[in-house]
Parts: sequence; C-alpha cells; structure tokens
Amino acid sequence: MTLDDVDAAERLTDEASYDLDVATQRVDWPTAARRSAARSALWRRRCAHLVEHDAGGCWIAEDDSGPLGIATSLRRQSWWGLSSYFVLPQTQGTGVGRALLDAALRHADGTDRAMICASHDPKAFRRYRLAGFAMHPTMLGWGSVDRSAIPALPRVRDGAGRDAEWCDEVDREARGAGHGVDHIVMREQYDLHVVDDSAGRGYCYAWPSGGTYLLAATDTDTATDLLWASLAQASDEPDVRFVYATAEQEWAVDVAIAARLELHGRGYLAYRGMPPAMPYLPSAHFM
Ligand SMILES: CC(C)(COP(=O)(O)OP(=O)(O)OC[C@H]1O[C@@H](n2cnc3c(N)ncnc32)[C@H](O)[C@@H]1OP(=O)(O)O)[C@@H](O)C(=O)NCCC(=O)NCCS
Repeated sequence: MTLDDVDAAERLTDEASYDLDVATQRVDWPTAARRSAARSALWRRRCAHLVEHDAGGCWIAEDDSGPLGIATSLRRQSWWGLSSYFVLPQTQGTGVGRALLDAALRHADGTDRAMICASHDPKAFRRYRLAGFAMHPTMLGWGSVDRSAIPALPRVRDGAGRDAEWCDEVDREARGAGHGVDHIVMREQYDLHVVDDSAGRGYCYAWPSGGTYLLAATDTDTATDLLWASLAQASDEPDVRFVYATAEQEWAVDVAIAARLELHGRGYLAYRGMPPAMPYLPSAHFM
C-alpha cells in the first residue's frame, strides 16, 4: 500500500465492516452506519501514519475492477499488531483475505509477541486461529453513564506530550512494547488522562465524546480511576464506552456495573506469544 491508496482503503473498509448484530440487536458497533466525514478523515490519518511507518506491513489487493481488500499492520520493537483487515463483501470467502494476512504477517518476522482486536466475523476468527492466535472473547460497555456514581478522581490529570516516554514504560510492562510514534496520532485524535504518583502509573486516551479508546496501567486501582475519568467526560447520549475487555479485566467490568452501563459480548482479543495484557483496554487500531 502507498499513500495514494489511503482514500480507496478508507472507502473499502467502510463498505466491508462486519455488521452481523447477532449479540446485541441494538449496539451499532463497529459500524452499522457509514462513517461520517469527520470519522473518515480520522481513519485516513491513522492509515497514512501506518503506511508511513510500517510500509512493509500495509497491503492492498486489487484486480482489474479496483481494490478488493486491505491489511494494515504495525511492528513496535519485538511486538506486532494487525490494525485493519477488510475484504469487499462480494469477494469475501474466496482467499483474498488469506493472501493479505500472509503478507501482513511477514512484517511480524523477528517479533515474538502479537495482538489483534478481532471483530466477531467467523471468517476472521478462522484466519487468526489458523495463524496461531489464542482467541479471547471480549466485552464492550455501552450506554449512558450514571453521573451520580462518578467518584472523586484527585489522582488523574490531563496528559501532555512529555508523558509519552513513561507511558511507553507502562506499555512495555503490559504488552511488551511501547506505542512509540503512535502516541503522535493518538494525541491528535483523543484526550489524554494520566496518573503518575507513588501508588501507580497509567494513561488513558479517551474519546472526545466520553469513554476509553486505550488504557494501560501498572495496577487495577489506577486503571479504575482512569476509566472513570474517561466516563466523566461522556455526554448523556448512550454510546459505546469501552471495547475489547477480556474476562481478565474485572476492574473494567466493575466500573461498568457501577456506572450502570450495559455489558455485551462482542469480538475477540487475539494474542500470540504473550499472556493477556493486564490491566489493559487496547486500542482497536494500535492495540
Ligand atoms: C475477515 C476478512 C478480511 C477475511 O477475508 P476473506 O477474503 O473473507 O478471507 P478468506 O476467504 O481468505 O478466508 C476466510 C475463511 O473462512 C471460511 N469461511 C467462509 N465463510 C465462513 C463462515 N460463514 N463461517 C466460518 N468460516 C467461513 C473460508 O472458507 C476461509 O477458510 P479456508 O481458507 O480455510 O477455507 C473478510 O471476511 C472481511 O472483510 N470481513 C469483514 C470485516 C471484518 O470483520 N474484518 C476483520 C477485522 S478484525
């Protein structure tokens, strides 16, 4: 993939998003509706960032009719992650996805740990399991936050660029590699909350509309405070408030229960060569 392919890739992923809403009947996620213009621009920025930094991990499949599918992936130190993986609906199940994943996985050569935030598409499940990933079912929290339940959060402050360095240390402990250059894009697109005191360290990128996009911490008390901080900025509109919580993340489940959010089983966190990161809520794009 080159930067010239980014617009076509964005259109393709919007069309191909897996929308079999069997589990919840009502939670429109990942993308039941087409992306807004603003969300498309954010997607293109993240994709261009990966093409720039991980050219060997980003692939597009095409024939005479045009693009058929894409896979984008990233390598950070000895860790690899799959960011986007989509094939046009009419072409799915014909082997294009396999070729794309094989190409992206070559970018993982020399790494020993890997992660994927997987959709609930059984075709994706099959590809990941056959590539050696352990598939952990995940939950999402959805709804309006009960504002009366939000605790005082004296440990949490707004983060800044200078925090990225120690955030990477927390990442290394949790998943074996820092996010490095990915902090640049995440700082542009999300609000950074941090805790850094003698009791623990952690950070959370929050969606501007409230809820957690990525959270990593040294301990569950710190993680709990950060998740609450991201919920505190939520509007009253019901929405997805966090995703990809595996059974290990009981601290997140307990926050959801206290905030009176609905919990729904949705998707999988796929791990290879590593135990589940803890306490941790991964970013769907940068893990
Ligand atoms: C996931 C995806 C990228 C895979 O691409 P693809 O071109 O469909 O993949 P392939 O055809 O190479 O492989 C699909 C496998 O699932 C099998 N399959 C087809 N339909 C299936 C079904 N309903 N249930 C389970 N397996 C199925 C295929 O036979 C094939 O397995 P095989 O190669 O061992 O025979 C594509 O299906 C897609 O875009 N899905 C929607 C978006 C999505 O959810 N992406 C994953 C994000 S994490």
